[in-house]
Amino acid sequence: MNITPLIKAIASGENQPSDLIQDFIAGIAERSVAQDVAVQWLKAVHRSGCTPSDKVFITQAMMASGAQLTWPEGPPVVDKHSTGGVGDKMSLMLAPALAACGCRVPMLAGRGLGHTGGTIDKLESIPGFRCALTPKEMVAAVERVGCCIAVQNEAIAPADGVLYALRDVTQTIDSVPLITASIVSKKAAEGLDALVLDVKVGSAAFMKSMEEARELATSMVETAEGLGVRTMAQITEMSHPIGTHVGNALEVVESIHVLKGGGSSDTRSLVIMQGAALLSMTLNLSEQEAEKRMEEVLDNGKALEVFAAMCEQQGVSETTVQRLIHDPESVVERARETTTVVAPNRGFLHSIDALTMANIAREHGAGRFDLNDKLDLSVGFVVHVERGKAVREGDPIFTFHHRRSLPEATLAQLTVLPQIVQEPVSTNGRLLETVQFPTTKP
Ligand code: URA
Repeated sequence: MNITPLIKAIASGENQPSDLIQDFIAGIAERSVAQDVAVQWLKAVHRSGCTPSDKVFITQAMMASGAQLTWPEGPPVVDKHSTGGVGDKMSLMLAPALAACGCRVPMLAGRGLGHTGGTIDKLESIPGFRCALTPKEMVAAVERVGCCIAVQNEAIAPADGVLYALRDVTQTIDSVPLITASIVSKKAAEGLDALVLDVKVGSAAFMKSMEEARELATSMVETAEGLGVRTMAQITEMSHPIGTHVGNALEVVESIHVLKGGGSSDTRSLVIMQGAALLSMTLNLSEQEAEKRMEEVLDNGKALEVFAAMCEQQGVSETTVQRLIHDPESVVERARETTTVVAPNRGFLHSIDALTMANIAREHGAGRFDLNDKLDLSVGFVVHVERGKAVREGDPIFTFHHRRSLPEATLAQLTVLPQIVQEPVSTNGRLLETVQFPTTKP
């Protein structure tokens, strides 16, 4: 295929011929475009970016390269995407809570990436949970119980699968248009009415500065809206771990606490905020009304009921589901050893270094270094003190759950994770900024 007109347009900042983009992306999915040609195009986009309308055409073509979910008349179809954090277990609660509020949620999720965890790895710590659903099974599951969580697969946006693998080996991952097309094409293929994007920023996020986060958020919102999906991005702070539990099985435990109306206020308020954004975009509710609906389904057991139904629908036995929701720790794998770090002096918990925490957990098996690495789902952390709270000397700050004994160097790293300060700390919640545009159809 001759992609010279595409490359020329990219280099001069003009729109790429849209029919050629479509042929090129279709050829990528069919594997009829040679790898070196695909890499030439990726490098050009990585170097020079592309126009907003190109981003929409590329994303649309990637979406059209595979199956697209279609829905019978009915309640709004919604989903969320997060750019990845530490302790970011929102999807486990958000999907059932939104379904309990009357939405349909066909959630596609991924595995851990770098130091960040992935929803699919977390769910796989529930014995029997099956994440490999076909598009047809996803629709059937959602029509039956209101939501499903399935692993991204070859059937949806296959062009992204091919391009992502090439980006990985050609240093072209960190490109806003390529990230945008990759994420939005898979979400748009779900046939969504509305999407909320959690764009994380901070030392434990992929986006380290507000400028980078704003650029990615704006690009994704613009592109998803260009495909007719109502979208809002919430830029949230990601330097301190989210909630009380970090690590695959441990995050399932915390999610169940929140689905029972308890759990950490940090996690609960993020779930409510993300869910409320989707409810107000689709059900014409005010922000306050939408938040109230989310709070109600977490407090009255309805979200937990849907979570149980989703687990059974995706292969977990009824007995395991009942044990899971009554005593989650008795179902998921537990680590053999624990090490607790205490406050060295009195003061206020300013923060815990989430990036180092996640890297330590990853080294002990919570995350992968190689695609084929087997995870230790029991590894992770339980945080005992909320950010900003007063501590006395000797108070436990967090407990590391691990299998292998810890070398001195790791123990030393653990003890300096919490930052304790002498002055009270003001904590303003996670939300830093939102990005939202009026809907524009292509
Ligand atoms: N996640 C994706 O699915 N694609 C990207 O390009 C980056 C993160």
